[in-house]
Amino acid sequence: MAGYLVEDARKVTTHRLTEMKQQGKKIAMLTAYDYTMAQIVDGAGVDVILVGDSASNVMAGNMTTLPITVDQMIYHAKSVVRGVKRALVVCDMPFGSYQVNASEGITNAIRIMKEAHCDALKLEGGEEIIETVRTILAAGIPVCGHLGLTPQSINKFGTYAVRAKEEAEAEKLVHDAHLLADAGCFAIVLEKIPAALTERVCREVAVPIIGIGGGPADGQVLVLHDMLGMNKGFSPKFLRRYADLHSVMTDAIGQYVSDVKSCDFPNAEEQY
Ligand code: KIV
Repeated sequence: MAGYLVEDARKVTTHRLTEMKQQGKKIAMLTAYDYTMAQIVDGAGVDVILVGDSASNVMAGNMTTLPITVDQMIYHAKSVVRGVKRALVVCDMPFGSYQVNASEGITNAIRIMKEAHCDALKLEGGEEIIETVRTILAAGIPVCGHLGLTPQSINKFGTYAVRAKEEAEAEKLVHDAHLLADAGCFAIVLEKIPAALTERVCREVAVPIIGIGGGPADGQVLVLHDMLGMNKGFSPKFLRRYADLHSVMTDAIGQYVSDVKSCDFPNAEEQY
């Protein structure tokens, strides 16, 4: 059994994440979308739980994150919050809920915070959304940035390939990271960019940088269903599978089917 000792059982705050970066302590972040999984993820010592809009893919079966709504994100975030004692819970603002203007962004941000009871929000983008980020921060809502491969812009990118390999895009990413950090974001997710660029941003920017497919950073995030091996068809290079739950669950369910059909279940002890 892996040693997942939690050094500090107090509720994780954005302030503590800053301290962790300063002290060189790594931040472990994972997604969760429901109460039961959130209880397990929290109990195993994850520092930050992201109620990602990847719920659109892994929970609802959509091809992209674009269709998920504010109401659906609130439902998932509320369920997660009920299962969490220690981790900081961050909820993604879904596509369309903050891109129109700062006024709509802050209205939706306040609604998510009030109804979901999460601790912070995550928004994708840099300079294009900086006024909205500042407005949300000014309302006292902690914001996590997200740069690099930003799945809400998949129709603009046209591919899920590695971002910021060219100098111009890399320089814009560094510029955006500084803008978000200077605005007051408590952390920034960097998705699918070259490891050398992640290393540069971690060095230049004071706030914690959380990587996914970006090499070593101040912390890492993965989609829960992917790292548990529930999703057989998704195998990007950056993904480490910690279990093969697809096989474990298929075997268990297959055994149940067989037991019912052979009248082995329920037996004499499994009835009243
Ligand atoms: O929605 C999500 O799961 C995310 C992570 C991939 C960072 O944004």
